[in-house]
Amino acid sequence: MQAAITTTATTVCAHPHTKPSSAPFLRLSPPACRVSFSASPGPNVRATAMAATPPQQEQQMVITRPDDWHLHVREGGVLEAVLPHSARHFGRAVIMPNLKPPVTTTARAVEYREQIMRALPPGSSFVPLMTLYLTDNTSPEEIKLARKSGVVFAVKLYPAGATTNSQDGVTDIGKCLPVLEEMVRQEMPLLVHGEVTDQHVDTFDREKVFIDRILAPLVQKLPQLKIVMEHITTMDAVNFIESCEEGHVAATVTPQHLLLNRNALFQGGLQPHNYCLPILKREIHRQAIVSAVTSGSRRYFLGTDSAPHDKQNKECSCGCAGIYSAPVALSLYAKVFEEAGALDKLEAFTSFNGPDFYGLPRNTSKIVLRKSAWKVPATYKHSSGEIVPMFTGSTLHWLPSDQPEE
Ligand code: NCD
Ligand code: ZN
Repeated sequence: MQAAITTTATTVCAHPHTKPSSAPFLRLSPPACRVSFSASPGPNVRATAMAATPPQQEQQMVITRPDDWHLHVREGGVLEAVLPHSARHFGRAVIMPNLKPPVTTTARAVEYREQIMRALPPGSSFVPLMTLYLTDNTSPEEIKLARKSGVVFAVKLYPAGATTNSQDGVTDIGKCLPVLEEMVRQEMPLLVHGEVTDQHVDTFDREKVFIDRILAPLVQKLPQLKIVMEHITTMDAVNFIESCEEGHVAATVTPQHLLLNRNALFQGGLQPHNYCLPILKREIHRQAIVSAVTSGSRRYFLGTDSAPHDKQNKECSCGCAGIYSAPVALSLYAKVFEEAGALDKLEAFTSFNGPDFYGLPRNTSKIVLRKSAWKVPATYKHSSGEIVPMFTGSTLHWLPSDQPEE
């Protein structure tokens, strides 16, 4: 349960936003000696510093293997192309059920899981945690089956029409009450896409209105139901999460909602690869989310919402919502925490808060995040097309790998 930061340099890092003073565990040893010390940013942080010759610098952070608590991997050729990006560094991922047709039954979840297992690289120990897609017709019986299967981890609520492949979603949460009550009995969490679909509500307000109209009353009605508000985007969501009892309601946060505001949709022309749902919001909302996750609060955890779509389905007259972030997500989360001077809080967000909330063991293996510039590929090809990743072609500064560099 410890993060170790190793630095081989005389300057901690060249990144303009890094403030060594805000991350005390990044201290360096005198040249030519190797020291190991316990610093005090938190009980789970240990630092090891190792000196080297300037101006070369190498900084690395060893963290417990992260999990992705919100992931779309699709099927077929796309599944085969995208899954290795997640399986490489993440231990587990909650797999979203919005396929065509959606995963509405336990039998289908079991089948989909097998498909995913077949697509995993040999030797991978990645664990897909499956979800059921809630509809107006889901029965309490299906929840019992889901629990019994040992395969279904949670149930996903898409308000009908809210996002990609959500047309079979819930039209009236009231109709689902018996199912939600069964979920309380079965201790099955509810994962929520928190946006209303009312066309009279401005797109940028749909999350806030969902909280007021649906989520807050639901939490009141079923306080024992474990709820995760997925991919939060607003200050209103942060305030709501903070107002709930810890351990009952939590939130996942994506890299795009931490790094981009709505200007990114229009920068130099329409930017389809920054289009996702919920849509990017104003800067004040982005800042509120950054403050929330970098505060060290246990209520927030990593959920990339990595949502691959073919380049041609993004760059067209009616482009799909979804950002493909799996290959860049860990680099981007590290960037966010570094820029906030909160690298000591990164590991809890990526690797502890999620399993702790869900009552699962934390991963025991480690990964390394090395401070090393790398270029994001323009696209990732698959059997019948290509996918443009988030921050395509740009240079990122934290490179995840499995092994510490000697
Ligand atoms: C997701 C997708 O493409 O499946 N798109 C998105 O913009 N996030 C669906 C979702 O999670 O809303
Ligand atoms: Zn999603």
